[in-house]
Amino acid sequence: MSQSLKVGVIGVGGIAGTHFPGWQASPHAEVIALSDPAAPVLERIAREQQVTLTYDNPADLIANPDIDVVDICTPNMYHAPLAIAALQAGKHVLCEKPLAPTPADIDAMIAARDASGKMLMTAQHFRFENETQALKKEIEAGVLGDIYHARSWMLRRNGFILRPGFIYKKNSGGGPCIDIGVHILDLTLWMMGHPKPVAVSGVTQDRLSKLPGAFAAWSGEAVPRDMDVEEFAAAFVRFDNGASLILEVSWLLHHKTTGEDMQMWLYGTKGGLHWPQPELLTTNYETKRFLNTQYSPVKSGLEPHAAECVAFADAIVNSAPSPVPAEESRDVMAILDGLYQSVERGGEFRLA
Ligand SMILES: NC(=O)c1ccc[n+]([C@@H]2O[C@H](COP(=O)([O-])OP(=O)(O)OC[C@H]3O[C@@H](n4cnc5c(N)ncnc54)[C@H](O)[C@@H]3O)[C@@H](O)[C@H]2O)c1
Repeated sequence: MSQSLKVGVIGVGGIAGTHFPGWQASPHAEVIALSDPAAPVLERIAREQQVTLTYDNPADLIANPDIDVVDICTPNMYHAPLAIAALQAGKHVLCEKPLAPTPADIDAMIAARDASGKMLMTAQHFRFENETQALKKEIEAGVLGDIYHARSWMLRRNGFILRPGFIYKKNSGGGPCIDIGVHILDLTLWMMGHPKPVAVSGVTQDRLSKLPGAFAAWSGEAVPRDMDVEEFAAAFVRFDNGASLILEVSWLLHHKTTGEDMQMWLYGTKGGLHWPQPELLTTNYETKRFLNTQYSPVKSGLEPHAAECVAFADAIVNSAPSPVPAEESRDVMAILDGLYQSVERGGEFRLA
């Protein structure tokens, strides 16, 4: 099983740096090529990673017959066209989140995957933390019973990136919904066992980013007047099994947190679960006592962005299913698209 998959990374900016250690850690993969239109970045990363094959045009990397795996780390709007081209060229594709900014784009990616018979995986790294893996196993063993409600949020008091790939809809597809909502929503749906979303009612706000003096704390820069994505969103989601979810996401909110407040609460017929300080809440009906069990943190192993690359290569060589199937990312995006549709129409939006 010592197959060596040749990997080409497209887009070598911020997030690509978290993937390289994963490709190095995998016994089945090695990075042989990089592509980025920004020449200074491409040269620097190629030097640091000791990769000699570089392309300013990603189409040339995709056309290289030696490459088995394409790792897409570009801004969101390029995910679908690059992934489809790579699948059509017979490559396996690992693609950063969001898989694509719209459900229609993801449908096209799924069609290309099915026509090629290659693997497509979304880089949802939170699933690859040791702790979330352990909790998923507990839930599958039935500790919560039927999960009928969830509350999830990912809230920043002031934390966002002012690059076009984040703050203009044509480049990103949306604001915190698309940037960070996909993380907490993917994690929550995964823990819930992926019930089918059927309806979404949502709101968005862009009030603080429009105030004079609005700034992004990470860079200290002023928010451009023409930023056209939301800064906050909330949604109520219904599922086909009767379960529900309340979701809140924000880049900019008067919320008490030093960096980011990311939480998930799951409520089931046998117990409740709080993440990220994992705690199981149950009731003994005979003694009428409540029981709160703190899970010990499961530390060790690879950093989760790296672990997802290792899992992807393992799945290919073992002919296993995609560790994060595109269909699951499509549900995530259908909910976020439904949220935007609900805002536009001013009422609940039916997905099915
Ligand atoms: N999983 C996570 O925690 C996480 C965190 C940050 C970003 N991301 C995702 O990673 C992706 C990239 O974000 P980033 O923060 O690394 O952005 P970035 O701007 O730091 O890097 C993107 C790189 O892609 C290059 N690029 C742009 N267009 C390209 C094209 N057509 N072909 C090839 N390269 C191109 C840019 O020159 C840049 O070097 C986004 O989809 C983002 O949502 C994921």
